[in-house]
Amino acid sequence: MAFPQQFLDELTARSDIVDVVSAYVHLTKKGNNYFGLCPFHNEKTGSFSVSPDKQIFYCFGCKKGGGVINFIMEEENLSFRDAVAFLAKRANLELPEEDGDREAGQKRQRLLDLNRAAAQFYYQNLQSPQGAAVAAYLNRRKISRRTATNFGLGASLDSWDSLLTAMLQKGFTKAELLAAGLVVQNQQGRLYDKFRNRLMFPVIDVRGDVVAFGGRVLDKSEPKYMNTSETMVYSKRRVLYGMNLAKKSKRGNIILCEGNIDVITLHQAGFDNAVASMGTALTVEQIRLLSRYTKELVLCYDNDEAGKNATQKAIDLLNNSEFSVKVLQLPRRLENGQYVKQDVDDFIKFHGREAFEALLTGSENHIEFRMDAVAAKYDLTDDRQRVAYAEEISGVIASLANAVEREVYAGRAAERAGISKEAMELEVKRAFRQRASRERRQLERTSLNPAAQLQPKERGCRYTDLRSAMAEEGVIRLLTRDSTLFDCCCQLRPEEFSSPLLGKIYSILLRCHQSGQQGGVSLLSQELEREEMNHFTGLLQKPESMANSRQAMADYIAIIQDSCRARSGAQESDPLVAAQEKYKAKKGYGGKPHE
Ligand code: GTP
Ligand code: MN
Repeated sequence: MAFPQQFLDELTARSDIVDVVSAYVHLTKKGNNYFGLCPFHNEKTGSFSVSPDKQIFYCFGCKKGGGVINFIMEEENLSFRDAVAFLAKRANLELPEEDGDREAGQKRQRLLDLNRAAAQFYYQNLQSPQGAAVAAYLNRRKISRRTATNFGLGASLDSWDSLLTAMLQKGFTKAELLAAGLVVQNQQGRLYDKFRNRLMFPVIDVRGDVVAFGGRVLDKSEPKYMNTSETMVYSKRRVLYGMNLAKKSKRGNIILCEGNIDVITLHQAGFDNAVASMGTALTVEQIRLLSRYTKELVLCYDNDEAGKNATQKAIDLLNNSEFSVKVLQLPRRLENGQYVKQDVDDFIKFHGREAFEALLTGSENHIEFRMDAVAAKYDLTDDRQRVAYAEEISGVIASLANAVEREVYAGRAAERAGISKEAMELEVKRAFRQRASRERRQLERTSLNPAAQLQPKERGCRYTDLRSAMAEEGVIRLLTRDSTLFDCCCQLRPEEFSSPLLGKIYSILLRCHQSGQQGGVSLLSQELEREEMNHFTGLLQKPESMANSRQAMADYIAIIQDSCRARSGAQESDPLVAAQEKYKAKKGYGGKPHE
C-alpha cells in the first residue's frame, strides 16, 4: 500500500530533517551541512551528516543514509508505514487511510481489546476460589501477590469453554477468538479454550498492549508451556517478555534470561531490568527493540548445554552491534554431594538477591565465556590436545583490540593449560599478526581497489558497466541539485541505464518532476529498499561540479546511450548480467518508469 505523493510532500515539508534528527543527535553546523555522532554505529568522531538543502542524512562511517522517513525507520525501529504515521503525529497531520487499511486497523484493535478482556478474565479467576490451584502454585514458587499483579498473572480454569463463554457474552465473536489464538477448533468443528488449568502470563508489548499469552502447567505434565502462536497482533520474534516493565528500569543494562518465571523472580528480587524471549533464540528484531533502551546486555541463560548454545548464538548475533555484552554464568549448586544445574529462579531462591547482585557486578566480559567454551573442548592433561588448545585459544584472544587485555587473558589461558606465559603470549602475537594481515588484505580487496569502491554494497545492484554507471550517477546527482536540468533529459530513457537501481531512481525522479512535485526523496524512501536508499544517498555525497552543468549532462547522456548501444550487441552469457536480470525480476523493475 502506498501513500499519495502529495501527502508525503506535505509531511516532509512539515518535518524538517534537521529538526527531526536534532531530537536524537547533537548536531553542529559546518558549512552548508550539519554533523554529529552517528546514532547507528559506535564512533568517537562525527561522520554523520545532515543536509538541510537535500533533506537527507548520510553517515560516511557506516554508509547509512536516506530522507527523514528513513531516519525515523532506522532510529525508532519502525516500518515505512509506521514511520510515516510517527512523523504525521509529530507534524499534526491526519494520515490518509485506505478502506482496507482502516478495516485492518479496526480488526487489530478488536483483537487487542479481546486480549485485554481475556487477561482480565484470567486475572479475576486467580482472585476467586476457582483459581485456588494456580494461587497455590504461585505460593509454592514464592511469587508474591504484588508481583503477580504487577505482571497481570492469571488463571485459566479447568474447563473446556469458560473463556469462550465469557468472551462471547462480552460481544466478541468466535472468529475473533480463533484469530486471537485463544480458542481452537477440533476436527468436528467444536471450539474449546486453548489454555486450560494453567498459570497465565499475559505478554505485554512496550506500548502496553496485551499481544499474547503464555500458559504454564501446574505439575510436571507436558507441554510445560503453551504460548500464543503468531497472530495479527503478535510476532514472537519482535517481543520480549517483561520489556514493558524493564523499559522503565533505572538500572543501566538489561538482563536477558530464558524463562517467564526467571523474569518474574528477578523483578521480584529488585532486578526490574530482566526480560526473556519466549522459547526462541534471540532475534535481530529483539536486538533492535533492546537498542532503544540500553547499550549493555547481560546474558543470563541456564548453565546447561542448551543455555550455553543459546549464549553462544546470542553472542554471535550481537558481535557486530553497538552493545556491550556480558555473560553471567550461574554456578552449579552442591546438593547431597553432587553438583546440580540451577536457573536464575533457583539461584535467587537458594542464594538470595545479594548473591545475584554480586554475580551481576562481577559478570564477565564475553571473552571469558568464549575461553571457557574452548577449554571445555580439550582434555588439557593430554600434550597433543594442549597444543591444539593453545592454538585455538590464541585465535580467540587475538580478537581483542586491547593489548593489555590480550596479555591478561593470555596469562590466564597459559595457566589453565599449564603452559608458560611467554609461550602463550608468543602464540597470541602470532595469531594477532595473522589476523591483522588478513584484515588488511580484506580492506585492500574491498576499499583500496578503486573499481570495487565504486560498486554498490548489495550484490544484486553491482554495476556491470562501470563507465556507464558513473555517468548515470552523475545524471542523478545533477538532477537532484538543479531541477532545471530535467530539460536536458527528454531523450534519456530509464531503460537505457546499465544499472537497474540507478534506472529506477532516475525514473522516480522523472515521474516526480513530470507531475510537478518536488518530493523525490520521500517517494524514493517509499519505493526503495533500505540498502538501495543507502546507496542513493551515498552517491549524492560524491563531488559534482555545477559549473557547466548542462554540458556535463549532455556528456553523461552521450556516454549512457553509447554504452547502451554497445551492450545491446554484447553477449548474453555474462554471469553478472544474468544475476542482474534475476534481481530485476525479483524486485519487479526493469528500469521502466512506473505507470
Ligand atoms: P520453570 O521451569 O517453571 O522455572 O519455567 P521457566 O519460565 O524458567 O521456563 P524454562 O526455562 O523451562 O523455559 C524457557 C521458556 O521457554 C519458557 O518461558 C517458555 O516461554 C518456553 N518453553 C518452555 N517449555 C516450553 C514448551 O513445552 N512449549 C513451548 N511452546 N514453549 C516452552
Ligand atoms: Mn525456570
